[in-house]
Amino acid sequence: MTRRILIAGNWKMNTRRRDAAALAKGVVDGIPKECAVEIALCPPSVYLGTVSECVVGSPVGLGGQNLYAAADGAFTGEVNAGMLTDIGCSYVILGHSERRQLMGETDADVSKKLHAALAGNLIPIVCVGETQEQRENNETEQVVSDQLKGSLAGLDEARAAGIVIAYEPVWAIGTGLTASPDQAEAVHAFIRGILTDDFGEDVAGQIRLQYGGSVKPGNAAELLGQKNIDGALVGGASLKAEDFLGIINAV
Ligand code: G3P
Repeated sequence: MTRRILIAGNWKMNTRRRDAAALAKGVVDGIPKECAVEIALCPPSVYLGTVSECVVGSPVGLGGQNLYAAADGAFTGEVNAGMLTDIGCSYVILGHSERRQLMGETDADVSKKLHAALAGNLIPIVCVGETQEQRENNETEQVVSDQLKGSLAGLDEARAAGIVIAYEPVWAIGTGLTASPDQAEAVHAFIRGILTDDFGEDVAGQIRLQYGGSVKPGNAAELLGQKNIDGALVGGASLKAEDFLGIINAV
């Protein structure tokens, strides 16, 4: 089963309009010709329009960092799937650990968002991952399994093949600590096993599993060379076109 590598940049709450445009243009202008890798940029929602104008007509896709699972209506401050697709998004990041920790997002919330994303024709990138403490207590598999089952609740086989799962160990996010290729592959293989149990081998074999957590040009090739690692969700290193392109070129 060949799965196309997906490298996505999660800019989190960074940049201003001018930087966002320059960064997006830098990525568009720097991607190698006949690039086999799928690329997505996920800027802050207020800059989606700016970045959309920079990537239109290029192979670089656009993604949101979150959505609200409801149709248009009285939901002050929120953005829904229809708005994301309208501005040019094809992807949306869901259940990032920062949202789980800081905004109290639960697996049930992520599941609602997942269904809203799929109904709105967005490719959801569903994040899971354990904390340092959970890893030290040997709870990684339990935590990841619970997050997966809860976040993918109600998902049928037909739709499952199109989703993306990002394994992001919380202890590796923005810390400079990276899971070793073996550590990352072990969890990715575990995730693939759960997906196989839930959706069957054929569908599980089509689901892309990204790794996220201090991915850089220097460690990308080894991480992405693992059997079950089909891409990267990049934070800090996606904020410089040179670094982000370095990751793409390393693949
Ligand atoms: O979503 C990407 C992320 O959380 C990883 O961030 O800065 O460690 O690459 P970073």
